[in-house]
Amino acid sequence: MGTVVAGGTIVTATDTYRADLLLEDQKIALIGETLPTGGHGVVDASGCYVMPGGIDPHTHLDMPFGGTVTADDFETGTRGAALGGTTTIVDFALHTRGDSLHNTLATWHAKAAGKAVIDYGFHLTIADGRDETMAEIPRIIAEQGVNSFKVFMAYKHVLQVDDETIFKTLQQCAKHGGLVQVHAENGDVIEVITKQARDAGLTEPKWHALTRPVECEGEATHRAIRLAEIANAPLYVVHVSSAMAADAISDGRKRGLAIYGETCPQYLVCDFSDYERPNFEGAKYVLSPPIRDKWNQGVLLRKLKNMELHSFGSDHCSFNLCGQKELGKDDFSKIPNGAPTIEDRLAILWEVGVNGGLMGPNQFVALSSTNPAKLFGLFPRKGTIAVGSDADVLVWDPNTARTISAKTHHMNVDNNVFEGMKITGRPRFVFSRGLKVAEGDTFTGRKGHGTFQRAAKFFPVQL
Ligand code: URP
Ligand code: ZN
Ligand code: ZN
Repeated sequence: MGTVVAGGTIVTATDTYRADLLLEDQKIALIGETLPTGGHGVVDASGCYVMPGGIDPHTHLDMPFGGTVTADDFETGTRGAALGGTTTIVDFALHTRGDSLHNTLATWHAKAAGKAVIDYGFHLTIADGRDETMAEIPRIIAEQGVNSFKVFMAYKHVLQVDDETIFKTLQQCAKHGGLVQVHAENGDVIEVITKQARDAGLTEPKWHALTRPVECEGEATHRAIRLAEIANAPLYVVHVSSAMAADAISDGRKRGLAIYGETCPQYLVCDFSDYERPNFEGAKYVLSPPIRDKWNQGVLLRKLKNMELHSFGSDHCSFNLCGQKELGKDDFSKIPNGAPTIEDRLAILWEVGVNGGLMGPNQFVALSSTNPAKLFGLFPRKGTIAVGSDADVLVWDPNTARTISAKTHHMNVDNNVFEGMKITGRPRFVFSRGLKVAEGDTFTGRKGHGTFQRAAKFFPVQL
């Protein structure tokens, strides 16, 4: 028995039309103007948009970071994602210096298997430029179904790698069908300024942002793009926070390079003043790159609209204020970096993008689902509504409003950087390979339902 999604309006990255869907055997089996319902369950999608489930290309679940481990694991994090309308995540498997990529991936498979409630893929981070590490990249792409590798230009002494490692990774990926992702901030400069601030006795959360000036992101983004240009390699710049970094991507594009930019919900609605909230509440916004001055929000939004930024990830990396962010109560540099954003990613883009009149539902789908699917080797199995695609379906009610709050969200964390925001539009139903995983505010899925999704080799898609 399948499920007929009846009465809705189908929205893909390119098309909008009235049709019903039949979900059967985990796939979209039929699309038709009015499908017979006999023998099938029926869900009412009238008044709703029926879209491919969201694909979140940037999550950190069950990840050791900043002297602690993220508050959400693969069960709680994917449950929050599902309730927000996301049906696939691509999480970062965190390589450590001297370890093999193969081991790293095995560790992350063990974290996710049996826990995730929606499907997942992996990116690998690269912690060292050893010959052994570089030699593994082609095998990881060809045999392990991972097509993307993140290098960090920041977090000195922890994750940061040098330009030699970045360049070698770019060359290997260009040759073997991989995509390099870059965290673009100048970690050396940040290290110097941070030490100076600490020596001067400056401790509050706002110093996180003040010691990571926007020029550090601008310079590193330029450098990464130039390195990619020399290596003749594609590049994906993660979590772009500022106009300065986004402009570097636009400039690279004008030179004909295969550069892709991702931004995140927190950069569209939070701003520097959030760091100045009283009672250590500013610590909620300690994430990297930091939240910028407000005027950057409009630039990022317009770049999303103009397709100068191509992908919308959450960068979900959740830490409790109580017991985790508190590690930096007396020293901003000890506050674990990250925020819980997996559940509200789609809501924020809908509110500021679609309700804000900047983009239509098709572009919303492109940014939050189709483009990530194309970049990370999942399309057309995922990221669209088509016969034969996985039955990952989001029935989105554009008329129902809700207010975001840590009191009602489903993530396993005591704070929400979007606290108090009113959103008009929310999931009515969410299906993951045909299984109804969310109905309104209620989780209806199953722990362990999520499966690993092998990524196809990367090829430079036109976005
Ligand atoms: O602050 C952040 N973004 N935490 C997650 C790690 C990263 O750099 O993506
Ligand atoms: Zn990063
Ligand atoms: Zn991240």
